[in-house]
Amino acid sequence: MSESAHPRDLLGRPLHDLRISVIDACNFRCPYCMPADVFGSAYRFLPPEELLSFAEIERLARLFVGLGAVKLKLTGGEPLLRPWLPELVRALSAIEGVEEVALITNGSRLGPLARALRASGLDRLTVSLDSLDPETFAALNGRAQRLETVLSGIEEARAAGFEAIKLNMVVMRGVNDRETVDMVRRFRGTGHVVRFIELMDVGNRNGWRLDQVVPSREIRDRIAAEFPLAALPARYPGEVARRYRLVDGSGEVGFISSVSEPFCGSCSRARLSADGKLYTCLFARSGFDLRALLRSGARDEEIESALRRLWSRRADRYSEERFERRQAGEEKVEMYYIGG
Ligand code: GTP
Ligand code: 5AD
Ligand code: SF4
Ligand code: SF4
Repeated sequence: MSESAHPRDLLGRPLHDLRISVIDACNFRCPYCMPADVFGSAYRFLPPEELLSFAEIERLARLFVGLGAVKLKLTGGEPLLRPWLPELVRALSAIEGVEEVALITNGSRLGPLARALRASGLDRLTVSLDSLDPETFAALNGRAQRLETVLSGIEEARAAGFEAIKLNMVVMRGVNDRETVDMVRRFRGTGHVVRFIELMDVGNRNGWRLDQVVPSREIRDRIAAEFPLAALPARYPGEVARRYRLVDGSGEVGFISSVSEPFCGSCSRARLSADGKLYTCLFARSGFDLRALLRSGARDEEIESALRRLWSRRADRYSEERFERRQAGEEKVEMYYIGG
């Protein structure tokens, strides 16, 4: 397919990356995503028939690839709660034109699944890891899982052949920000890449306050005081993290600074919810119901032209407009429902 067949949005941005949520449920209750007091035991996640089937996901992924997507990222909720996930990975990695299939997980079920995921063709792995202190870790996930389980999951994944695993830490002032340098110390020399994420105002229920956000510059300065850092070039336009290498050669770290340094200008990510809605921004108010289109018996050409139209009309740039938009008090999609 020629390059001209690939749509650009209203800000000239191509579609490069499709993030696919395979399930909205999660066994963690991170306060910034699914606060336990809101998402209690009676909270109803989507019933299985509402989730896209693997065949539906594969069909949509193929159409997105036709529009220029080369990277597929599986997310949740917690994607490893979806039964038979390695089967989906196998199908997606076989699509012609897909350069990479990646997965982001909270790590709680990684140990037993790592080998099957690798064998099915999963290229890369990201694990959320907000603390190295067992008590803080437990408090941050709603006491669902022990730190040791996630750390051993990461080890199993490495043994299964995943290298340079990305370890995502959402940094919150007064909660885990004292641990940032420890994280670097712990994982330097392993080949894994720790990434520090500024706490974001995703969804409508996480009670976000600006004073909880630790700007990346502050974290970078703290780390650099112990481990001098040198900036690395972006690997592709629109890369989410700013990357740095440790000058002593022992590793790499990244900073994801959507609050202090928004990166909407080159955002090439589309997001598919577990029930088949297309969102063109992590902070969008609503999504387009692709499942209805699929289940109405639409032909590939009809779905493709809907996708093309949706992308061509896209003008989202929430992080660049955050403070005005917050004042307007608009509702946003919940992050657990479309993944990160
Ligand atoms: P790879 O797919 O492994 O390359 O990961 P990535 O670098 O694209 O990022 P990852 O999926 O690990 O996302 C890290 C975090 O960055 C997410 O959990 C979000 O918190 C944030 N993030 C990712 N994409 C966006 C985005 O488009 N906008 C904003 N505001 N934040 C994002
Ligand atoms: N701010 C920043 N990152 C978040 N994540 C989830 N909610 C937030 C938030 N409010 C991150 C998770 C994980 C990824 C899926 O998104 O920690 O790394
Ligand atoms: Fe935490 Fe991810 Fe689960 Fe949200 S989906 S509660 S960020 S583990
Ligand atoms: Fe992309 Fe929206 Fe994030 Fe901006 S705020 S980088 S447009 S997902």
